Parts: sequence; structure tokens; C-alpha cells
Amino acid sequence: MDWKVSEREEAGDVLVLPLWEGRNKPANNALSGLSRSSVINAKSAFKSRFDGKAGSKLSLWGDSCRVVLVGMGDIEKLSNKVARDAGAKTISSLSKKDGTNLTVRFTTGWTLDSMLWFIEGMMLRDYAFVKYRSKDKKEREEQGEWSVDFQASSRYLNELNSGVSRIVGRVEGVHLARDLANEPPNYLYPMSYAERAEDWASDKPNVKVEVYDWDDLQKKGMYGLINVGKGSSRKPCMVLFTINPNADTKEKVPCIVGKGITFDTGGISLKPGASMDEMKYDMHGAATVFGLMHALYATGHRGRVQGIACLAENMPSADAYRPGDVIPTYSGKTIEVLNTDAEGRNVLADGLWKAGEYDPSYIIDLATLTGAVVVSLGHEATGLWSNDSKLQEKVHQAGNEEDEIAWKMPLLPAFEKEMTGSKIADVRNLGKSRWGGANTAAAFLKQFVPNRNFEEEGDQIPWAHLDIAGTAWGADTNAMVSHGATGIHVRTLHTLITQS
Ligand code: BES
Ligand code: MN
Ligand code: ZN
Repeated sequence: MDWKVSEREEAGDVLVLPLWEGRNKPANNALSGLSRSSVINAKSAFKSRFDGKAGSKLSLWGDSCRVVLVGMGDIEKLSNKVARDAGAKTISSLSKKDGTNLTVRFTTGWTLDSMLWFIEGMMLRDYAFVKYRSKDKKEREEQGEWSVDFQASSRYLNELNSGVSRIVGRVEGVHLARDLANEPPNYLYPMSYAERAEDWASDKPNVKVEVYDWDDLQKKGMYGLINVGKGSSRKPCMVLFTINPNADTKEKVPCIVGKGITFDTGGISLKPGASMDEMKYDMHGAATVFGLMHALYATGHRGRVQGIACLAENMPSADAYRPGDVIPTYSGKTIEVLNTDAEGRNVLADGLWKAGEYDPSYIIDLATLTGAVVVSLGHEATGLWSNDSKLQEKVHQAGNEEDEIAWKMPLLPAFEKEMTGSKIADVRNLGKSRWGGANTAAAFLKQFVPNRNFEEEGDQIPWAHLDIAGTAWGADTNAMVSHGATGIHVRTLHTLITQS
């Protein structure tokens, strides 16, 4: 989307006017730049046909330009969700066939924040994964990008301009995460993710990407990753991102860890066939890490931030790991494998332990970890577990600001007891029953969160776990995306990291 901000004067091919409910007299200059007949047309619509209710929309075809009235509802009830949703629905309802020059005109009652929410909704929704759809790809290329003029009162223009620039960087990050997660698993596998990360870093002086390939994993003893990935001809790897490696070297900074199973067949504990194709999204945690790194870079974040992606393809084969195996991990703790389909936790065990080496201020992991979290929360919220109530609250609040809800879930001692009750190893990778499966998974992960400085009696590093199995794709109530990967929590974590 190409964009600029300006004062309310000219109107493009289409003029979008987001208006409040119960205010049937539009601001003086709401209709400037329109022909006389369009003005008469619009005025009569305000009187009779358009009430401004949230979700309502009215298109008026005039001789000079098309006017689209968007109902925003009661101004007192405006929330970031209402505004973002309205922006998203507006862009998805327009066709480039009517012209790509859009004017979005904000009139009385719009604040800087609410304008930015609306604009962010428009930009997030302006996305399609068409690279393998020949006709759509060609059409999109021919039609070109939207070119949008955001118009507001002159006193807002400076802040609006910098606010939109920031949003553009975040949206690029979200779209990058979606691109990675939507990519089919024959094209996106562990080492191809790593290559993309290296390519991305190659022209950016203040970012660093390091890749631990198969041989490096062996040398380091990262057997969580090795075991999950060894059944595939596409070998596992770990990708380590650093934004601003030379900043804050004496300070503690965040480390974000992502599950990156580029395809999850279940392994020897094979999944049933129905919807197995969706397991290409099982790397969305790692996609979010990459997208977040880009968002931080593109918005000019100055602080250092660490990212870790744990990449493997979980396949059945003669070389695959099996139920009954006991595997060592990078932490030194051993895992009794009872189900090879509970693989995400095995790769994260190595990623979380590695995170401790950065001595981070906190660790947050993201993972499409369990079907059980989808049973609990549906597609409406991510599950949020933490060993630190302050961190948990901060993540929850950041999620609320971005309308990416992260719902607090319990990390009870009983779940930890269940997962450390193996007769043959330190930790078991499966609960004793299927009940509370998202909680037992979180309790497993906690066993691999290091103490500060790896001291045996020290405090555990603050850590939060986001189970995004329900929110990474498939939420038809998420207006920010039409289908496919959502890019979930790039914005939540960007807000968390940049606002604290
Ligand atoms: N990637 C899946 C979880 C998943 C399932 C995400 C459905 C989204 C939709 C994960 O690796 C998995 O298979 N988990 C198992 C764990 C079980 C074996 C303890 C599950 O949820 O069934
Ligand atoms: Mn699995
Ligand atoms: Zn999985």
C-alpha cells in the first residue's frame, strides 16, 4: 500500500468517510473536493439512509468519485478493536477495479490513536498469498498497490505521518510472518527458513543471524531438535537472531523463542489424515519470531533483542525417533518420549535452554503446541502461561492493546509433578491422561527454563509461554486476515518490547 497524509482537500477515485452514529451532520469539510451532485447525494444519505451504526456501510456512486460511508458506531464506545475491524472491513470491501486512488478522510471526533487503529486495520487486511495462483498473481501485478491519502486536520499531520510510518514497519513484520507460515512445506523447510533469515540479514548492518546446522547441533548436543528432525531428509537447525548486537551489551534484554516445525506428520505416532495439510502452519511460532525481528528493525528499534527459531520437520521414517526412546537435551535433562507427536516441546527444550545463555531480561516462547488449547479457548485467544505474574500481566495487556488476546492459564505444581514423574527419565513428554493437555505441555516447558546464570539454587528467568495453536490460523472472526496464517503476536510483542 502506498500512502501519504494530507489536509482535507482533494478526493481520489474513492472517498472513504468513517462517521459516528447519531451525528447526521458531517463536518464542514467532510465533502470538500466532491462535485456538486455528489455533495447533494451524500447530504441526502446522511439525512435518511445512513445511521453510522458500527459495521454499516453505504456506497454512493457520483459523477466524479465514489463515496463510501463507513459506520463507526457510538463514538463513546470506540475501541481499538472496533476501529481496526472497521479499517480492515473497509479495505476488503473495495475493488481495485473502481480505481486504486483512495482517500480516507477523518473528520470530527477522530484522535491520533483511533486514526492509527483504523489505518492499521486497513493495512493488515491488505494481504493475499497469491504467489502460486497464476491468475490472481497476474491480476494483482496489473492492478498495482492501493495508493491511499489519509486526510485529517492539519494539527495532526506530523504525528500521523510518523505514526503511519511505524505502523507500516509493524505490518511488514506481520505480513512476513504470514508469508513464511503460508508457504507450502515442500518449499519451506528448516534450512530454507535459515537461508531466508540469512538473506534478510545480509543487507542490514544492525542485525545478525547465526545458523546452527545439523553438524553444529551435534557438536552442541541439541538432541531435542536432532531427534525430532532426524526422520526427515530435510535436517533440523536452529536460527539465532540479534537486533542491534552492539547495543545494551551490559543490560538484560528480551529473548523470544519460536517453535518451527515446518511440517508435523506426528512422526511414528502418526496423525490422522484429516486436515493434516494444516500442519504446515506448525512453524508459526518461528514465523512470528522472524516477523517480529523485521518489525523491530523496520520501526528503528534501538535496543538489542534476541530471537531463536527451533526448526525441524517431524516425519516418520527408518531414521525417526520413536515412542519409548529416551533422549538427552541441551540442558542435560533427559526426556522420555511417549508420543512422537508431542514434538514441539522437545525442540523448545533446546531453544529455551539456549535462551538462558543470553542472560535475558525475560524469555517468551510462541508455539502451535497443543490441540488442547484450541479445545479450551477456541480460535479467540492464545493461551498464556508464565512463571512471573508481572510478565504475564504485561503480555496480557500488550495483547489487549493489539486485539490479540492472550488469556492467562494456570501453571499448577500438579502439572509439573505429572510431567516429571517418569520412571525412566527426568521429564516425560506426555501427560498421564489427555486432560489439561495444554497445561501439562506448559509445565513440561517450564522444566527447561534455566535459572539465572544456570545456578542450581537461583531464581528461574522470567518466562512466558504463548500457545498459539488456535490463533495462528483458522479464526474466521479475525477481521485482519481473509484466510491462512494470521501473523499472530508480532504486534503484541512489538508493543511489549518497544513500550517498556
Ligand atoms: N502441532 C500439534 C498441535 C496442534 C494440533 C496445533 C492441532 C494446531 C492444531 C502438536 O505438535 C501436537 O501434535 N500436539 C499433540 C500433543 C499430544 C500428543 C500430547 C496434540 O495436541 O494432540
Ligand atoms: Mn505434533
Ligand atoms: Zn506440532
